[in-house]
Order: sequence, then C-alpha cells, then structure tokens
Amino acid sequence: MKKKSTSRAPMIEVRHSPIHGYGVFALRRIRKGTTVMEYLGERVSHARADARYEHKDPDDNHTFLFTVDARTVIDGGVNGNEARFINHGCDPNCESTSLKRRIFIEAIRTIEPGEELAYDYQIQRDADDAPNVDEVFACRCKAANCRGTMLAPAEEVLKPRRRAVKPATGRSKVKAKAKAKAKAKAKAKAKSKSPAKARGRGAPSLSDS
Ligand SMILES: C[S@@+](CC[C@H](N)C(=O)[O-])C[C@H]1O[C@@H](n2cnc3c(N)ncnc32)[C@H](O)[C@@H]1O
Ligand SMILES: [Zn+2]
Repeated sequence: MKKKSTSRAPMIEVRHSPIHGYGVFALRRIRKGTTVMEYLGERVSHARADARYEHKDPDDNHTFLFTVDARTVIDGGVNGNEARFINHGCDPNCESTSLKRRIFIEAIRTIEPGEELAYDYQIQRDADDAPNVDEVFACRCKAANCRGTMLAPAEEVLKPRRRAVKPATGRSKVKAKAKAKAKAKAKAKAKSKSPAKARGRGAPSLSDS
C-alpha cells in the first residue's frame, strides 16, 4: 500500500539547483514508496501544446510539459505546482507513475533531508530527431552513471515507455503518432498486463516547451 505523509512539516522546497535552474529538495526524510506530489497543470492536447510553444528555439530544451498519453499533455507552466521544478536524474530517487491518466511523483528509495528529488525523464527519441538531439538534451545530473542525456537510451527508439519528459518544440505530433503506434503494439502484446502497462510506458514526457 502507498505510504502517505501524515506530518504537517512541508516535505519539500523549491530552490536553486546545481543541476539546472530551480530544483525540488527534501526538507525531511521521505520514505521509499511515498507519493510526493501530483504533477499538476493545464491538461491540453498535443496540438495545443505544439501551438503554444511553436515559436520556441529548437535548441532550447526547457519545458514544463509532461506527456500523459497520445491524447494529453500536462502544461505545468499553467496552474502547475512544484512538481514542474523536479529535474531529471540518471540515478533518480523518484519516478513518475500514471494512475487514471493523472501523474504522480513517487519516492523509489528513502530520500534524506537536503537531497534533490529527481526522476528519469526518459524523453522519447523519434526517428526524425536532429543529429544534435543528444547535445540539446544533454544531462547535467552529475550521477556516477550519468548517461549524458535526458533522452531515453538510444536503443529504445520508438518503444512505448512508461515515462519520459517530453520536450516541447514541435515534437509533440511526431511523439503522439509514435506513442499511438506503440500503444497499439503494447496493447496487442500485453492484454494480460495491468492497464498501466497495456497503455505503454507513456507517462511524463515533458513536452518541448
Ligand atoms: C520540468 S523543468 C525542471 C525545472 C527547471 N530546473 C527549472 O528551473 O525550470 C525541465 C527542464 O529543466 C532542465 N533540466 C532538468 N533536468 C536536467 C538535467 N539533468 N540536465 C540538464 N537540464 C535539466 C531542462 O531544461 C528541462 O527541460
Ligand atoms: Zn544524468
């Protein structure tokens, strides 16, 4: 069963991060399995997310968009909460999970006070990615096993995934198509699996913002 926080002391704070911009840090011990928070923001279609950020510099990877599935993106930049400041980490202490198309950030190990929270964005790769895509999405998490990119490992191109921050510069349509394909494939393959699995690994994909 999920552990819920009962203490009144705030669990996290947002402050400057050595990884990038602002980050989210534990103010007290967060036990493994704790649901830290929901990823909130306006729920929009991929088309709307694309239109919203279409003028963005393609070399700017910054985004508050999180892909729920082929239909929906959460724009943490509109009515969002602290979850939008959680940075990517290659050796993360959190993961994003999807429950009834809502996204939650959960501790996957016990997090000590002062530690920065991170989850693996696993940004989906697309067949038409620019040659410098790894450079654009370079990771600065400084983990000993940092893979150097916020993108999913190269061999996972177009596979359905459970989570991936989806950078938002005009990649949404392509991603949505890939995800719909992947979803159909996963469904066909995984009828006996849980609904979340059957949906494919589609959760946070911070759309290119
Ligand atoms: C959801 S925001 C996280 C909050 C962000 N630090 C801020 O201050 O707005 C996601 C963006 O933060 C940056 N980012 C997050 N994790 C990173 C990492 N490990 N390495 C480099 N940039 C990162 C990227 O620009 C990414 O698109
Ligand atoms: Zn890294």
